[in-house]
Amino acid sequence: MRMISHSPDETLAIGASFAEKAVPGQILALKGDLGAGKTVFAKGFAKGLGIDDVVNSPTFTILQVYESGRLPFYHFDMYRLGEPEELEQLGYEEYFFSDGVCLVEWPEMIGELLPEDALTVEIRRGEDPDERVIEARMPEEDPDAEPGEED
Ligand SMILES: Nc1ncnc2c1ncn2[C@@H]1O[C@H](COP(=O)(O)OP(=O)(O)OP(=O)(O)O)[C@@H](O)[C@H]1O
Ligand SMILES: [Mg+2]
Repeated sequence: MRMISHSPDETLAIGASFAEKAVPGQILALKGDLGAGKTVFAKGFAKGLGIDDVVNSPTFTILQVYESGRLPFYHFDMYRLGEPEELEQLGYEEYFFSDGVCLVEWPEMIGELLPEDALTVEIRRGEDPDERVIEARMPEEDPDAEPGEED
């Protein structure tokens, strides 16, 4: 499924619409370059869950936990993750395999620790400065998750 966003507000609304459909245990792998709009999407997602506290870009924290919404919300930003052990220390399994919903920025950083059933949302820049192409893929549609693929 592919959507075009023309503004940060529209990306917030798209994020919120994903949250409205979110189910317990769901994991969203949020891909896209620096400044693509992943954190904007995450803020909209939080809002869609009914979370009112502001979601800041977790620049210095790998994980932020929000429990005031319809479902527990675990917002990961793996950008500054060093070793995979850091994720182990965080007790990531408790969050990935929970009744909450996880949103993972920079999922590429955690390789195969990302559960296979994660939904992928990729944000790319469009033609205009404020345009973004937001594409959602089910696990079986994700080319990066193709078994045996090497490049
Ligand atoms: N349509 C749009 N959707 C989302 N953000 C947009 C859009 N148009 C412009 N922007 C701007 O792009 C930037 C997106 O920043 P954001 O922090 O969400 O990116 P990010 O993907 O989380 O980057 P990082 O990898 O550094 O965390 C913001 O400054 C936002 O105002
Ligand atoms: Mg971000």
